[in-house]
Amino acid sequence: MSTPILAVREVVRTFGGLRAVDGASFDVEQGSITALIGPNGAGKSTLFNVVSGFLSAEGGSVQFEGRRIDRAPSHRIARRGLVRTFQVPRTLTRLSVLDNVLLAASGHPGERLSGLLLRPARARAYERKTRHRAHELLELVRLDKHAQDYAGVLSGGQRKLLDFARVLMTEPRLVLLDEPMAGVNPVLGRQLLEHVLQLRAEGGMTFLFVEHDLAVVMEASDRVIVMNEGRVIASGTPTDVRSDERVVDAYLGVVPPT
Ligand SMILES: Nc1ncnc2c1ncn2[C@@H]1O[C@H](COP(=O)(O)OP(=O)(O)OP(=O)(O)O)[C@@H](O)[C@H]1O
Ligand SMILES: [Mg+2]
Repeated sequence: MSTPILAVREVVRTFGGLRAVDGASFDVEQGSITALIGPNGAGKSTLFNVVSGFLSAEGGSVQFEGRRIDRAPSHRIARRGLVRTFQVPRTLTRLSVLDNVLLAASGHPGERLSGLLLRPARARAYERKTRHRAHELLELVRLDKHAQDYAGVLSGGQRKLLDFARVLMTEPRLVLLDEPMAGVNPVLGRQLLEHVLQLRAEGGMTFLFVEHDLAVVMEASDRVIVMNEGRVIASGTPTDVRSDERVVDAYLGVVPPT
C-alpha cells in the first residue's frame, strides 16, 4: 500500500481539563475525498487546527507526505501544500475580494522575492499569471462581480466561497475544508462540491472535509472517519460507516453498552 498523504497518530489536545482531541488516529489516502464527521464538540475543528499547525499537539504525531509536521508552524505547513479553510472564515474585511485571493498566493514557491527583484520581466509575468488565476477562481465561486468590493460586504456564505478560492490559489496538494457548505446557498454549495470532485479528478488534489449533512457525505466521499469525544470511533467506506452501530449511537446520542 502507498504511504498515506496524511497520517494522524494518537493526537491529543486539551483545553484546561477538557480533552477536545483525545488520542485520535487515522490516515487519509492520496487522491481521496475523505469526510470527517461526528456530533458537535467531537473535536473535528480542533483536530484541523492541530493538523494545519494553528494549534500545537500535546501528544502524538502528524505526518504529511511521510514527513513529521506536528512541530511546524502553520505557514510552513501551508507552503508544503497542506492548507485549510475555517469553519468561520478569516476574511480580511478591509481589503478587496480580489486582494484577499491575491494575498493567498504570497509565500508561494513561484514567488521568490529576490528573484523577482532581479528579474522585473519575470516579476510582471508572475503577477499577470497570478491575477489571471485569481480572477478565474473568483469566477469559479461566482464572486467575480464582487472582485473590487470590500470583502467585508460579503455574506457569511460568500466568505466561505472566498475562503475556498483563497485555498485553491495556493495550489495545494491536501485541502482541509471545515464545513465548506454550511451557510452557503444550496445551488452554490452543490457547485462547490462539483469543483471538489473535478479538482480531485483532474488536479490530483486530496480533500479532507468536515460536513454535517450525511447525504452530502455519502455522495461525495470515498472514505468516512467518525469522531466522538475526541477519538476516532469508526472509519471506512460511506456504506460501512452508515451501518456501524457505534456511529448510529454517537449521532443519536445514545450511550453504547460497555
Ligand atoms: N479554543 C478553545 N478553548 C476552549 N475550548 C475549546 C476551544 N476550541 C474548542 N474547544 C472545545 O473543545 C471541544 C471540541 O470542539 P471542536 O470545535 O473541535 O468540535 P467540533 O467537532 O468541530 O464541533 P462542531 O461540529 O460544533 O463544529 C468542544 O467542547 C469545544 O467547546
Ligand atoms: Mg467544528
